[in-house]
Amino acid sequence: MAGIFITLEGIDGAGKSTQAGRLAQWLEERTGRKTVRTFEPGGWPGGNSLREFILNGRGFSAMSELLMFLADRAEHVSRVILPSLRQGHNVICERWNESTLAYQSGGHELNPAHVKRIINACNFPEPDAKILIDISPETAIERVKSRKNNPDKFEAEGLAFMKTVAGFYRLIAESEPGKFIVVKSDGLNEDEVFAAITSRLEAMT
Ligand SMILES: Nc1ncnc2c1ncn2[C@@H]1O[C@H](COP(=O)(O)OP(=O)(O)O)[C@@H](O)[C@H]1O
Ligand SMILES: [Mg+2]
Repeated sequence: MAGIFITLEGIDGAGKSTQAGRLAQWLEERTGRKTVRTFEPGGWPGGNSLREFILNGRGFSAMSELLMFLADRAEHVSRVILPSLRQGHNVICERWNESTLAYQSGGHELNPAHVKRIINACNFPEPDAKILIDISPETAIERVKSRKNNPDKFEAEGLAFMKTVAGFYRLIAESEPGKFIVVKSDGLNEDEVFAAITSRLEAMT
């Protein structure tokens, strides 16, 4: 039997990485299956150079940026996601198709219907559950600012961009109420966000 596939979405600083680690441990204990934790872009062996290229390369058109994210996902699917699921492992992945929709059509203004069609044509595996950590861009920006390393080009886009992306994420989640677990995380500490996620996942896993 294939493992469970769960994705985590949200703007930079939302708390995806924080929750991914805790969720992986929780899911492993709950299901008794190995749980692979991974991320995009670049979450495959050798993928770091493509990650750096996509996140730090300047001057790309929005369309080539979209195609680079999808090329990255295609490698991730064939080298990590599908082999893991087929071996019966669960997979927790930070960012998936909904990041592409929110950033490349919401943030970077490609036609959402076109982006959706291109994503659908890729036929990537569909997650069993998708989690949106919905945080206010103001709070997220404060958190990202306090990080030591330099922001990548998406993190550096600023408040208006983050607001657009956050708004797109909400619309996407609302369009798939059976699939998305949305946690409004402003004012919630890490334990509270985790409890909100797992209480909803318990019903699904
Ligand atoms: N619920 C929370 N309350 C306060 N700070 C948090 C919370 N969740 C995460 N953080 C902190 O916010 C920062 C961003 O979290 P992170 O998990 O790296 O976000 P993301 O992976 O979505 O960019 C980190 O410094 C993390 O420790
Ligand atoms: Mg992260």
